[in-house]
Amino acid sequence: MSRYLFDNTDARTPDRFSVLESCYDPFSRRQLQLTGLAPGWRCLEVGGGGGSLGDWLAQQVGPGGEVTITDLDPRWAQSRPHPPQVRLLRHDIVNDPLPGEGYDLIHARLVLLHLPERLDVLDRLVAALRPGGRLVLDEFDCTWTPILAAPDEESASLFQDLHSALLTQLEKAGADVRWGVRTHAAMTKAGLHEVTSMTYGESWAGGGKGISLHRVNMQQAREGLLADGVTEAQLTRFYALLDDPAFVVNSYPLISTRGRA
Ligand SMILES: C[S@@+](CC[C@H](N)C(=O)[O-])C[C@H]1O[C@@H](n2cnc3c(N)ncnc32)[C@H](O)[C@@H]1O
Repeated sequence: MSRYLFDNTDARTPDRFSVLESCYDPFSRRQLQLTGLAPGWRCLEVGGGGGSLGDWLAQQVGPGGEVTITDLDPRWAQSRPHPPQVRLLRHDIVNDPLPGEGYDLIHARLVLLHLPERLDVLDRLVAALRPGGRLVLDEFDCTWTPILAAPDEESASLFQDLHSALLTQLEKAGADVRWGVRTHAAMTKAGLHEVTSMTYGESWAGGGKGISLHRVNMQQAREGLLADGVTEAQLTRFYALLDDPAFVVNSYPLISTRGRA
């Protein structure tokens, strides 16, 4: 049974979506364009979060197309207006029947990573494509976050220790923190053709927007972190480090994999 660690009831969720949109939407849009995305297409955006990519897809498919944005908890996407060709659904991709079939394009970013049932979900997504339809999965390798600069070695160790503790929380909730590097093989095994991947990363300096993803994630996992022995003092030092411009870490690499049914 999936238990999404960063559930959308938390008031800090818009901070997460805002980082994901500003850092990764331009890259995700480019990958979606590479599928041949065209006016009239029927698209499914799974676990659409704030809904920015679903809205962008709607612009590309135009009034003759259709975009269904699903989410387990769509409250943040509901809080903004969408083009008329967007249908927004509260939907659990693990337990609910898919909202349609014969899609030209299905996209999900950072959703299957969290789901213990990800391989079953993948099979169901592939089955919901029309012949020749495209699936694009954008996923992180959460383990590859090299530190590019640090004020001292102690700070670098603090980041690494607390980040490892966060990954443990994710794994306890059923996430595969290396799913990004396993997606390509899984999509091939699921029967897709012409499977190809591209990866995006950037530097995240203390005080900048991107690095604040670590703050919101750590804050939301706080209870489990403290239960596992992380101290308040460590968390305070960690948050201060995220504000220090002398500290620079590589973003999570977003590995975008696409294939054809
Ligand atoms: C890390 S966020 C990513 C949001 C968005 N895809 C993005 O990249 O900006 C994961 C999203 O997946 C949704 N989600 C988690 N489990 C889900 C499920 N079983 N079915 C549908 N959506 C789910 C969450 O509610 C959340 O909005």
